[in-house]
Amino acid sequence: MTDSAMPVSPAKKRETWTGQTGFLLAAIGSAIGLGNIWRFPGVAYENGGGAFLVPYLVALLLVGIPFLCLDYAIGHKFRGTPPWALRRIGAAGEFIGWFQVMICFVIFTYYAAVIAWAAQYAIYSVNEAWGDDAKSFFVSDYLQVSSADSLSFSPVAAVAIPLALVWILVLLIVGMGISRGVEMANRIFLPLLVILFLVLVIRALFLPGALEGLNAFFTPKWSALSDPHVWLAAFAQIFYSLSIAFGIMLTYASYLKPRSNLTGTGLVAGFANSSFEILAGIGVFSALGFMAYKQGVGVSELQGLSGPILSFVTFPQIISMMPGGPLFGVLFFTSLVLAGVTSLLSLLQVVSGALQDKFGFAPKTAAMIMGIPAMVVSLVLFGTTSGLNTLDVVDAFINNIGVVGSAIVMTLFAALLGGRMRALREHLNKVSSVKVPAIWDFLVGVLCPVVLAVMMFMAIVDYISRGYGEYPSWYVLTFGWGCVALCVIASILFTLAPWKHQKPKHAVNDGEMMTEGVSQ
Ligand code: ALA
Repeated sequence: MTDSAMPVSPAKKRETWTGQTGFLLAAIGSAIGLGNIWRFPGVAYENGGGAFLVPYLVALLLVGIPFLCLDYAIGHKFRGTPPWALRRIGAAGEFIGWFQVMICFVIFTYYAAVIAWAAQYAIYSVNEAWGDDAKSFFVSDYLQVSSADSLSFSPVAAVAIPLALVWILVLLIVGMGISRGVEMANRIFLPLLVILFLVLVIRALFLPGALEGLNAFFTPKWSALSDPHVWLAAFAQIFYSLSIAFGIMLTYASYLKPRSNLTGTGLVAGFANSSFEILAGIGVFSALGFMAYKQGVGVSELQGLSGPILSFVTFPQIISMMPGGPLFGVLFFTSLVLAGVTSLLSLLQVVSGALQDKFGFAPKTAAMIMGIPAMVVSLVLFGTTSGLNTLDVVDAFINNIGVVGSAIVMTLFAALLGGRMRALREHLNKVSSVKVPAIWDFLVGVLCPVVLAVMMFMAIVDYISRGYGEYPSWYVLTFGWGCVALCVIASILFTLAPWKHQKPKHAVNDGEMMTEGVSQ
């Protein structure tokens, strides 16, 4: 009988990681992504420098690790992707689960495009193809960006070709399943990334001016700590960076064996991710210090310190100024590709796993069914001349509204539905080395939704009153709000579709919640 024809629940035939280490590497690989390299340094610098580390660590300890444990507890206990696992908690859970799956779908369509840019820039680095004007090279020559007030789908070959190759690579990996595909790729890519990145950081530390860069990065502006925006920025960074609240860690934990140390692994993954993030800050600001030194200006006068501009404009400028620049460039962009691919795999696994759980597909079939439409959307929207603008809008809305909204709904759902938090905590404590104290119920069930609701409220007010960026309202409506609305509609349709084999049963009471999962 083929995989897809077996009439059993996903919990029984579920693939597993080869062991705790495989899972840990995949979890760290997912967390360490583009966000660590291009997002964290700029966010930290703009929000108090060294002082930002205080709210950042508070956010990591108070909500980051606790939320990571919630994702782990739900995925591991119910051994399914978000639609399956959350439906076990309560009937509305399946919709929330599909919403998380749709968020992953949207994110990976553009995340793959950024990896494709990085791959192309690794090649451009060899002869510093951007010449003297890295900004116009990136925007006009490479991406051929059309005006922000119009939409155009003219293909850009230098984006579309590497993008198609990225898709083929990742779909082949996901199609091979959890242990032979995703785990094996992480076992190769993650150590390689750490080695390459360490070489880069050490090289950057020895550049003239590096110390000035580090001073700018670490000098604490203590007054920032009284600014609520700084605290919100820290919480947002932790959510983005740890890949929590949109199904990834929940899905990865569902492939763990029944007796697995969840909290110990969560702590290691959380601190490894933050260590890499701080390392990235050190490397990036050493390089920026060098750039300021070369230009004879202060680090504070530099522009373009985060996002795509940091990686694809500022870094090429630095590469052109330094001895051995091409080698530095190849290493830097290869690091971005490796960090991106391991995160992309985790996003894909959520969608592929959910299709397997609900419709009984084998991994290869699920990879195809997800991959073909994903690749088409990715190529049409992000491999064309409007790609950068569309990416900018979609990224802002799917993160600030979609991910934050999903986190609020999921925590309230788990917390309000008849004391589920306690049952999940007891599950964590049953299998883990580090015991979770009762305050966890409060941190995840109350503090998380409150902080997130404030963040989301501010984002919504901002988008409604000021729009987003320089884009016309129809653009923001189509790709911002429209994209979130599309996720909601698709989630309703997936929820209404019939389960292929066994429908997930509700875990009706705490007793049932507490006993299942570990004894299998
Ligand atoms: N956690 C991933 C990143 O930092 C998504 O990019």
